[in-house]
Amino acid sequence: MSMKKNQSWIDQRFPLSKVWNEHLAEYYTPRNFNFWYFFGGLAVLMLGMQLITGIFLTMYYKPDAANAFASVEYIMRDIEWGWLIRYLHSTGASAFFVIIYLHMFRALLYGSYKGPREFLWILGMLLYVLLAAEAFFGYVLPWGQMSFWGAQVIISLFGSVPVIGPDLLVWILGDYAVGDATLNRFFSLHVIVLPLLLVVLVFLHLVALHHVGSNNPDGIEIKENKDKDGIPKDGIPFHPYFTIKDSMVVVGFIWIMCAVIFYAPALNGYFLEHANFVEANPLKTPEHIAPVWYLTPFYSVLRAIPPMFGSQFPGVLAMFAAILIFFALPWLDRSPVKSIRYRSPIYKWALGIFVVSFVMLGWLGLKPVTPTYALLGRIATVLYFAYFILMPWYTSIGKTKEVPLRVTE
Ligand code: HEM
Repeated sequence: MSMKKNQSWIDQRFPLSKVWNEHLAEYYTPRNFNFWYFFGGLAVLMLGMQLITGIFLTMYYKPDAANAFASVEYIMRDIEWGWLIRYLHSTGASAFFVIIYLHMFRALLYGSYKGPREFLWILGMLLYVLLAAEAFFGYVLPWGQMSFWGAQVIISLFGSVPVIGPDLLVWILGDYAVGDATLNRFFSLHVIVLPLLLVVLVFLHLVALHHVGSNNPDGIEIKENKDKDGIPKDGIPFHPYFTIKDSMVVVGFIWIMCAVIFYAPALNGYFLEHANFVEANPLKTPEHIAPVWYLTPFYSVLRAIPPMFGSQFPGVLAMFAAILIFFALPWLDRSPVKSIRYRSPIYKWALGIFVVSFVMLGWLGLKPVTPTYALLGRIATVLYFAYFILMPWYTSIGKTKEVPLRVTE
């Protein structure tokens, strides 16, 4: 049978050509995409890479408190190419977050969360929350000192919930302390529950994206300006133009990834903390406990809020609020324009200050608390929340520039 015949045989039974055309060959994408539009595709690549390397790690890893640490060492030393698979996965986690933070920042730059993309944004935020949980559970699995003590610190926060706290804590741990039962359930969540949810959510994220179409650096709706055939004048087919462009980006990205994995896979303790190369010891607390860099901004918010009546609960609430408030962005932003290019100077200042506060929180979260750092942490926390809380006000004042009808180069 010829190719053509094969294809029509399939098309009669499955919408292959239809899907190909609707979502690739005849899917029109804004022609003015720039650097910031590479990261969604790279995020898909990273999810695939984490799934594949994760499957191979699961073949040798043992989710058992007595054997977990040794099984990871076995992967690193005795399994052929095991070190590469493990580092691809552990460095991959950090790379994934670098990509996701840039992907999210793009949305802040170009107002991608604004209508009609509110639902796409909500799906993205759900992805972010699940990804953070996935990374947290994953970090516990090697059962090093930081796995154990990090889990201890974070899970004990649930004990501060009024009334139900103590019972909730036991329910989460499956025991009265972090132990074998905890490790087992985290393994189950990390390798089955969350990956499944992530894959489903990414699919829905892309369905939503293709329904409303991509935003772009000018923040113009290209669907509002079509030619006589109904094709957006500022659109070009995703395939072959962006499939080719994205593959070049993938090649560049793999070069960077190789450089890190071959020369600095733990990145001096930033990707895999030094203490995690020592097996978990419930009797010996490490000197300084901190999450991996991608979760430290929220850890800093937690530490910035002083305990009330001896309870850490206000800090816990603030930490969750710092993440959840992102969901509200589409409704907090009152600006008539989407892209930073046409926004008022006051918005540019607000975004700049927000970025500084976020980076500062992240940096402080890696440091032990001193009086100066504690003060800085509180200032950064106030600035962080101010970006959101004051947004309805500062996006409705200030002079915006006129948005052109067609995209600019
Ligand atoms: C596993 C995680 C994720 C994957 C695989 C993913 C994938 C993608 C892809 C392929 C695109 C289109 C290409 C692009 O615009 O870069 C996209 C667009 C978008 N994503 Fe994600 N994404 C993820 C997480 C997130 C998160 C955490 C957010 C925000 C909270 C988000 C918000 C958006 C928005 C608003 C768009 C449209 C942007 C525009 O058109 O300007 N995504 N995503």
